[in-house]
Amino acid sequence: MSDVFLLDGEQVPFTVGQTVMAAARAAGRYIPHLCWHPEFQPHGSCRLCTVKADGHFAAACTLAARPGMTVDNRTAELDDQRRTLLQMLFVEGNHFCPSCEKSGACKLQATAYELKMMTPHFDHFFPDRAVDASHPDLLLDFNRCILCELCVRASRDADGKNVFAITGRGIKSHLIVNSPSGRLADTAMSLADRAASVCPVGVILAKGRGFVIPIGERRYDRQQIGAAEEQ
Ligand code: SF4
Ligand code: FES
Repeated sequence: MSDVFLLDGEQVPFTVGQTVMAAARAAGRYIPHLCWHPEFQPHGSCRLCTVKADGHFAAACTLAARPGMTVDNRTAELDDQRRTLLQMLFVEGNHFCPSCEKSGACKLQATAYELKMMTPHFDHFFPDRAVDASHPDLLLDFNRCILCELCVRASRDADGKNVFAITGRGIKSHLIVNSPSGRLADTAMSLADRAASVCPVGVILAKGRGFVIPIGERRYDRQQIGAAEEQ
């Protein structure tokens, strides 16, 4: 038998050891998130999933559910904070949605729609980041990286390859490729790897198949992000 907690006033069942995020997702409830994915250990870095649990801010993806706890999720205060986080992510990278292959299937874009982010609010950084087109089957466009570390976890834990890593601190944090040359072509990465398909934005892209699914018919064009399956 499972216990329950209250999420925005509604009962959510959970089993011992389950996080608030995992239990909510299993119950069909949406807590905004970017770095969480059901296949991988939670990372707790993007903070989009911050909720108020019994009056205290906590990341839902790392917070263990407790019987009878009261969790506020989609409140105006929390969604406001989430919008600010999204705005910071949008200005920190170069996100040109209309020309991005991932448009309509991008979690960052879909979450911004869900949270009704209307403007970037902050000044754009316009960082200068070179793409890595060295691999025969895959392209890396670092301009869109939101540092969720899903590719790091997928390559390490699912593929057993450790192709990616995050280096640097704070504003200098960035994604690198673990090879002597720093190029993807000099790793064991393949198109079939889980890391090749896990990126929630448009960094890791398959070459040679642009816009196979037309804009308007993509994952988040068809379903709002809260109702869609994790990709
Ligand atoms: Fe996350 Fe994609 Fe950046 Fe990897 S490349 S850290 S999956 S945004
Ligand atoms: Fe919880 Fe990113 S989804 S911190």
